[in-house]
Parts: sequence; C-alpha cells; structure tokens
Amino acid sequence: MAAVEPLDRTQQLASFERLVSGCTRCALAKGRTQVVFGSGNPEAELLFVGEAPGFHEDQQGFPFVGQAGKLLDKLLAGIGLTRADVYVANVLKCRPPGNRDPQPEEIEACESHLFRQIELIQPRLVATLGNFATKLLSGKPAGITRVHGQEQWTTLGGNRVLLYPLYHPAAALYTPRMLEVLEEDFARIPTLLGGEDAPKPVLEIVPPPAPAAQLGLF
Ligand code: URA
Repeated sequence: MAAVEPLDRTQQLASFERLVSGCTRCALAKGRTQVVFGSGNPEAELLFVGEAPGFHEDQQGFPFVGQAGKLLDKLLAGIGLTRADVYVANVLKCRPPGNRDPQPEEIEACESHLFRQIELIQPRLVATLGNFATKLLSGKPAGITRVHGQEQWTTLGGNRVLLYPLYHPAAALYTPRMLEVLEEDFARIPTLLGGEDAPKPVLEIVPPPAPAAQLGLF
C-alpha cells in the first residue's frame, strides 16, 4: 500500500468525514443527532478505537467527551500525551439507543468506515478499548480480560500495525483493580510506540476474516 502524504492525509480524512456524515447504512442513522467520525491528529502514530458514541458524544460530535473520555485524557497525560498527539475513533460512528451494545449488523455496516480511517491515518500502534474493538480488529473471538496488554502484529488498512488491546476506560471508571491494570497497560505505550525495545515484527499467520457473529460480537 502506497504511503499517504501528510497533506493528502488530512484532506482525504476531512473529505471522507463529509461522506460518512450522511451515512444511512444502518438503522442507527435514524436516532442519531450526528455521526461521530473521530477526532485528533490525522498524522498520529497512535490510534485509539473505542466502541460507540454515548449521549455526550452524540450531542457534541466528538468521541470520548464524557466521563470515560476524561479518564482517557488522564491516562494519556500520565504518559505525556494529549488528544492532539493521537487519533480517537470508534467501531460504530452512531450512538446505539440507550447505549446498548453494538449489534452485528451495525458493526458490519460500519466497519469499512473504520478500516478506511486506518488506511488514511496509517498509525503504527492501534490501541483497542474494550471487547468490541478488540474482537473486530484482531479478527479473533478472545475477550479483553484474556488479551489486554498483549500486543500483536497484524495488517490493518494495508499496513503493518501493532495491535494493543486495553480495557475500556468506562469499565475501569468504577472498578479500581481494572483501573490499575489499565494504567499499567498504558505505561507500556511509549515503548510500544518505538522506543529502543519496541517489539519487532515476527512472522505471523493471518487468519481469514471471520463474520461478526463468529467473533461473538453480540
Ligand atoms: N465510549 C466509547 O466507546 N466511545 C466513545 O466515544 C465514548 C464512550
């Protein structure tokens, strides 16, 4: 896959955002205030992928602006980063009613938006927040409790990326032990981002993409 030049990248991401803002691929389009495309630095080396917009995100049009977002900001600050250094997106771009779990048909309808974002941004590290993003991007059914903190090389959007599953900040808000683990996993991000001892790609077997139902995404 040819590298996308930074100027092109910003422009292409902006024009892709305009396209996605009118998306009607699934029923969530009817209930949304607006599409929550994603936000941050289009040239970021680190991309976070959450689950879906909640009430505040739907109102404001940006991902992670509620309580979970405040925790994400704190965790970023703890490793010397801000939102301006990273890009944040979600598996679903529209809010599910009552913040229910994403449904398989919604994920299937929406996933190509995320894959195109990854193709344009070309991050080196993709941190998945919670089960839905982790299962979708790893292509494996293993849950977040089992795989958090375990980086793995994979190919996303035509590029080699290090996939790094993390607990979802919303889950850690009220569970102190989970918050500790999330902080520990976050502390490894600078190393994974290419410090001296960043893990080198190893030979990997690429599994065929599994349908959402097989990944246990509902
Ligand atoms: N939780 C998510 O997964 N994404 C958001 O944007 C907000 C909360």
